Amino acid sequence: MARIDYDGATAASFRAAREIPRSGLGAWEEAVRRHLNPVPGMTVVDVGAGTGAFATAFCDWFGVRVVAVEPSGAMRALIPPRAGIAVRAGHAAALPLPDAGADAAWLSTVTHHVPDLAAAAREIRRVLRPGAPVLVRNAFAGRYERLRIVRWFPETARTLDTYPSVEETCEAFASAGFTRAALESVPQSDLSSLAELLERADTLRTADTLMRGLTEEEFARGKERLREAVLAGRTPRGADLTSSLDLLVLR
Ligand SMILES: C[S@@+](CC[C@H](N)C(=O)[O-])C[C@H]1O[C@@H](n2cnc3c(N)ncnc32)[C@H](O)[C@@H]1O
Repeated sequence: MARIDYDGATAASFRAAREIPRSGLGAWEEAVRRHLNPVPGMTVVDVGAGTGAFATAFCDWFGVRVVAVEPSGAMRALIPPRAGIAVRAGHAAALPLPDAGADAAWLSTVTHHVPDLAAAAREIRRVLRPGAPVLVRNAFAGRYERLRIVRWFPETARTLDTYPSVEETCEAFASAGFTRAALESVPQSDLSSLAELLERADTLRTADTLMRGLTEEEFARGKERLREAVLAGRTPRGADLTSSLDLLVLR
């Protein structure tokens, strides 16, 4: 079972509050390019593609073909139809691709939704050609120093610690023959002010697994913290606005 039922309302909230604008993804474009070594026409399987934000970015940035695999019909429906993206129903342990049919796998904020990561790793092994990379963009248990949401809503760390850790993820993929090739923290930016984060808090509460794990009191306290910072007119430091997720690469 995924932690969130990505139905119609949640899919719309996800698009509104969670998609990072392309302008805030420069560091991700650079990091992915380094590990993917993209060649136009190569096939990337986007596992748990959501509303297609990265599928479209990969087409634009690298000229690759993307097979966007997504279990939720409501999320799939929001993937923009375009050349270069094939949208398919499926999930991490049942990918609608032939053996060795892809040159890389991309999993963005998905591993914590996958009920059996070792089964997913075996399926990803099946669809990747030998030597192809798996790129995992995620928050991992125990690694929350650079997560903005934890700064403002510290109790989100409780749910984060139920996510697979880097070590658990590597173990699951090792059982399918992958080894860890790299781990780096990559910044992203989707806000120009704290007021924007405050405005977005209620929508995030429905679309973000970490925010959904808060009690009403914890959520209210975090909002109050933000409101005070906004009212104080404090100029936010970069660290208040940007956030980082990890990029774990396995081959
Ligand atoms: C937080 S969203 C991330 C969407 C997209 N990857 C992105 O970064 O914009 C998580 C997605 O994983 C999907 N998902 C849930 N369980 C899954 C599974 N077992 N295999 C693949 N995807 C899954 C959900 O339907 C949802 O679209």
